[in-house]
Formats: sequence, C-alpha cells, structure tokens
Amino acid sequence: MATIGTDIQQAAALLKAGEVVAIPTETVYGLAADAFNEEAVLRIFRVKDRPAFDPLIVHVGRIEDVPKVVRALPPGAQELMGAFWPGPLTLILPKHPDLPDLVTSGLDTVGVRMPAHPLSTELLRTLPFPLAAPSANPFGYVSPTTAQHVADQLGAKIPYILDGGACTVGVESTIVGWGMNTPNAPQWTLYRPGGTPVEAIEKVVGSLTTAVDSPSPSAPGMLESHYAPRKQLHVGPLSTLLKRYAGRSIGVIAFRDEYPAHRCEVLADDGDLGVAARNLFAVLRDLDSSDCEVILAEEFPNEGLGRAINDRLRRASAGR
Ligand code: TXA
Ligand code: MG
Repeated sequence: MATIGTDIQQAAALLKAGEVVAIPTETVYGLAADAFNEEAVLRIFRVKDRPAFDPLIVHVGRIEDVPKVVRALPPGAQELMGAFWPGPLTLILPKHPDLPDLVTSGLDTVGVRMPAHPLSTELLRTLPFPLAAPSANPFGYVSPTTAQHVADQLGAKIPYILDGGACTVGVESTIVGWGMNTPNAPQWTLYRPGGTPVEAIEKVVGSLTTAVDSPSPSAPGMLESHYAPRKQLHVGPLSTLLKRYAGRSIGVIAFRDEYPAHRCEVLADDGDLGVAARNLFAVLRDLDSSDCEVILAEEFPNEGLGRAINDRLRRASAGR
C-alpha cells in the first residue's frame, strides 16, 4: 500500500529509481515518472490501465527545461508560457527527438506544462529530469483532487503519494496546440477546456479554433466517454430531469441553488465558477459511491471555468 506523505526527498529518490509516484498539482493529482526513463513511463501506463495510444503530458519545473523536450517554439508559445506558467495550461509543441516516443504515443508533438503547486515545483526543481504524468486515476474514471482519492484507487499499485492537500483548481489543465487542425493557416487550437479560461488565452494569441471530436482523437481527453463515474449521470435542466427520474433515489449536482432530492450538492452557493470547479470531482466521486441510483447535474454558465465543468459533465454523461 502506498505511503501518503509530504517528503519531497523520498518522492525524488523513488522517481530517480524509476518508480511511479503520485504528485499534487493545482489541477488534479498526477501519476509521475521520469520522462526519459522508458521503463518508468511504461509503468505509468500499466498502473493506470491506459491504452498506449493516449499520450502523456510532460511537467517541467523551469522554463529552461522546455528545450529538453521541445524541438522548436511556434509563434505565441513564449507569450502563453509567460502569461500562464506556472499554471493550468498545457501546450502541444513539436517534440524533441530525444524524448522517448512512448511518452507521446509516437506523435511528433508533446504536451508540456509547468504546474503551480509548491510541492510539485520543489520536487521538479530537485530532479534532473522532467516528469511525464497523466491524471492519477484509472483510465476513463474521474480525476483525483486529493491524496486519498489516489490511494482509494491506485494505492495498491504505487509506493508513494506526495500529499499536497486538496487541489485548488480542481479540473485538468486547458490544452492548446499550434496549427494542428489548420495546416495551411496555422492558428492556436483548443483541445480541452480546463483550468485556464479560454477568454484569457484568446487575449494573448487571438481567437482559438476548436478541435473536433473524432473516433481517433489527437487528444484522447476528447474521447466522448471519459472522466466518467460508474453511476448513470444525466445533464440538463434540473426541474425537467427531476420529474423524469421521480421515484428514484437521486443525487443532484447544482451550481448555486438547492433542489429537493435524496442528495443535493451545491458546488458554489456564491456563484463563483472557480469554487464550483474545485468541488466538482470530489462531489462526483462522493455521489458515485453514495446510495443514490442516478446522478443529475445542471448545465453551468458556459464561460470561464464553466466551460471546463460543462465539458467534464458532458463527457461523464456520454453514452448514458
Ligand atoms: O492538469 C492536467 O493536465 C493533469 C495534471 C496531472 O497535470 N494532467 C492530465 O493528464 O490531465 P491526462 O493524461 O489525464 O490528460 C492529458 C490529455 C490526454 O487527453 C492526452 O491525450 C492529451 O492530453 N495529450 C497529451 N499529449 C498530447 C499530444 N502530443 N497531442 C495531443 N494530445 C495530447
Ligand atoms: Mg486524465
């Protein structure tokens, strides 16, 4: 069973030995390994039960580490790093040939970000290599926002969980890439809405094109059924949904108002979408393990972090 602790030196020693360690970030917990150690990276895929076609994000502790994993910077990349790093923004950039293909699932690009959490920053700056890390959940399930969430699902498979408390952002990073969809007129493309609001990114690099979902996505975070609880989840107007599922034991996820149900979780009674995002995954997990039969969620305002919340709820309900 994994040890849960705050010992950065112990985490660093395990990572140097090629082990997989769960680390806190401001978004969600990550399942980290030395990005240049193929065996260690392979272990991440095994622990997560993640298909090999789904590339990992590389985490750096300093801007100077970017050239170790990235071949060249497209226009605007520097500005985006300057504006949002450290923070919840992942950039898809041309991959450095020395970075193992396993990390990027053979793609010619690599997702890179600099997380903003004091423990992960200190850890990354202690280590002589960047860390490849997906979210620390079994593939397809809701991402973990506490050390205990990680322990509940992956504790038996990893030696150490670095405990940085509850994640302050609570949804994964926003992912943008240069020109992938529009080779003739390259432009920054949104692959996943997340912790950095799209509106803020557009102030730096102009309007983003949106990547379309496809059966073989270039960002599998875009797979329809993803981030999913085990229970049925439906998203829509709560008054209508509550009537449709009347008679069932219902768990409700609401933005700011209470609804009459067996369980009602209000994510942000002050209407702050940042607070709602922070609470989302913990509430999803909680309702998923409760005695409710069905989870009903309302749509959030589609702005700021509300876009990330709606995206995760939509994917969590896909195919239900
Ligand atoms: O906030 C986050 O981004 C968290 C923390 C731990 O940093 N990480 C995270 O990783 O959410 P993961 O693996 O759960 O999601 C990363 C997404 C995946 O959907 C993956 O397919 C996509 O990023 N991705 C990674 N590299 C890519 C690339 N080169 N091209 C396109 N998509 C990529
Ligand atoms: Mg994930």
